[in-house]
Amino acid sequence: MCGIVGYIGTKNSLPILIEGLKRLEYRGYDSAGVAIINSKECKVIKTKGKVSELEKLVSAHPVESHLGIGHTRWATHGEPNTINAHPHFNKEKTLFLIHNGIIENYLSLKKGLLKEGYEFISETDTEVLTHLIDHYLKLKNSLFQAVRYALNEVEGTYGIAVIYKNEPDKIVVAKKGSPLVIGLGENENFVASDVNALITHTKQVIYLEDGEIAEIHKDSYTTKTISDETIIKEIFHVDVGIDDITKGGYPHFMLKEIMDQPESIYNSMRGRLVYDEGISKLGGLQGFEDRIINSKRIIISACGTSWHAALVGEYMIEQYAGIPVEVEYASEMRYRNPIISKEDTVIFISQSGETADTLAAMKEAKKKGALCLGICNVVGSSIARESDAGVYIHAGPEIGVASTKAFTSQIVVLVLITLMLARKRNLSLPDGQDIIKHMQKLNEKVAEILKQNEYIKDIAEKYADSKNFLYLGRGYHFPVALEGALKLKEISYIHAEGYPAAEMKHGPIALIDNNMPVVFIATKDSVYEKVVSNIQEVRARKGRILAIVNEGDTQIESMVDHVIKIPKSHNILNPILSVIPLQLIAYHIAVKKGLNVDQPRNLAKSVTVE
Ligand code: G6P
Repeated sequence: MCGIVGYIGTKNSLPILIEGLKRLEYRGYDSAGVAIINSKECKVIKTKGKVSELEKLVSAHPVESHLGIGHTRWATHGEPNTINAHPHFNKEKTLFLIHNGIIENYLSLKKGLLKEGYEFISETDTEVLTHLIDHYLKLKNSLFQAVRYALNEVEGTYGIAVIYKNEPDKIVVAKKGSPLVIGLGENENFVASDVNALITHTKQVIYLEDGEIAEIHKDSYTTKTISDETIIKEIFHVDVGIDDITKGGYPHFMLKEIMDQPESIYNSMRGRLVYDEGISKLGGLQGFEDRIINSKRIIISACGTSWHAALVGEYMIEQYAGIPVEVEYASEMRYRNPIISKEDTVIFISQSGETADTLAAMKEAKKKGALCLGICNVVGSSIARESDAGVYIHAGPEIGVASTKAFTSQIVVLVLITLMLARKRNLSLPDGQDIIKHMQKLNEKVAEILKQNEYIKDIAEKYADSKNFLYLGRGYHFPVALEGALKLKEISYIHAEGYPAAEMKHGPIALIDNNMPVVFIATKDSVYEKVVSNIQEVRARKGRILAIVNEGDTQIESMVDHVIKIPKSHNILNPILSVIPLQLIAYHIAVKKGLNVDQPRNLAKSVTVE
């Protein structure tokens, strides 16, 4: 979380920094700031609130400079106010630092600095690091060396960018645990916490790895390890266009991303299905297939929405490939010393590829010798780079904080993996081909559901004043119930719980009265009749029922308040279809309540702190 951007070149830096911050705002948006240096002055402008607030301040004090850094914050240490906003600076206001991550030993470092006479004006860990660099600047007389020495004392995570008045020809950046990318231009260079901030300027990028530090000039750069050894970095070309990161005429990124799904789902499977053999071909797993198939166990680890996709994966891999699967929150896995052996495969699912807990869980699993695979959306992200092998979901950039298209594409990739494993085990050719046939029709079916947007909006608005919601589903639709509830919580701030429908009688049924909306996912599958019984139980207690059913289902329609109909598909693909009305319901309720759908309070898209 937190967005970082920096510019050095021949153009005026402030508009570039503000534009970059707007593209990064999804990473955190409680305060923002910039610092610039020119031949006459150093200036820092910060404010509580969003980048648009900062932009107003910046336009009121225009200043020309060719060197600057900017930051949009998701508060960790200290409340989101102007003083705690980045950039932080030294007493003389000549050294400026922006930081993404957490300095864990900041209190002990602060103690030492206090003894030396340093004064602190903010509550942040970042200000401590700024003064520590200042301390070394006085000893080493070189910004690069001062940053390097300071970081050698730091425990925790960081992606930082630093500028200094007395060395106005450079930005020094370093990374450990938080993403940092350098963008290479003509007579200008950039830094950012992700490529979205850079792609209007350059497509040539260098990804810094943990423990690396770089000095960036307008026409050159050097990269080293934190222990001062020179390293040569590979330059990557990023394939993200401006259309991918704008709203494309929709009022919100979230709606655009929901509407993108026929295409994003197709892109996730494109070129990966071989109908004649009833299999999938995943280039990223080439050479690892046998090891995965012979795994004693598969563990899937993730956070948030990606964890819900993992649950769907568990159901399908166990059912079709017959390999035992466990699903684990990455935040739990990283600290509880799980039993993982060389014979296990651990799959890490992450849209951003940067989630701190997921990354740390992966490092833990690697240490224990397991094969670590990544399922990521962001190309070149840390999890993608550090896993042994993996599959990109190719959903395209997801900017709305609440994940939508990434979830459906993650499930597509899990189906592809299931197909690959199951066909090598005991899935027959016709059964494999049957799954493929259904996959090939998926985008049309998704488009069919999306056509009902206005109808779904009307229904959603009827429920917008509810204070609580229950989402119930069984089998493949249990994780969808969890995801539907999460979507609603995230953006509408309505309390919602997802439950396996049959568990309702062990507690949640006590909540049901005529004020409690219950969303049932009740498509025609092997547990359909059981879900119908659960619907009856809610009906008997006067709960308001909204059901997601299959086209042609009249039985449930006659029993509930509202139905949304979705096309039939293969059971392992059903979650991809049934989640779409739930995404739209959450979206329309949040819009009706006048909330900021793309940037819900307290959340961030990419959680790079633990
Ligand atoms: C945050 C986001 C969620 C996301 C989760 C995991 O909480 O708001 O939408 O599901 O992080 O992120 P990842 O990038 O690892 O999938």
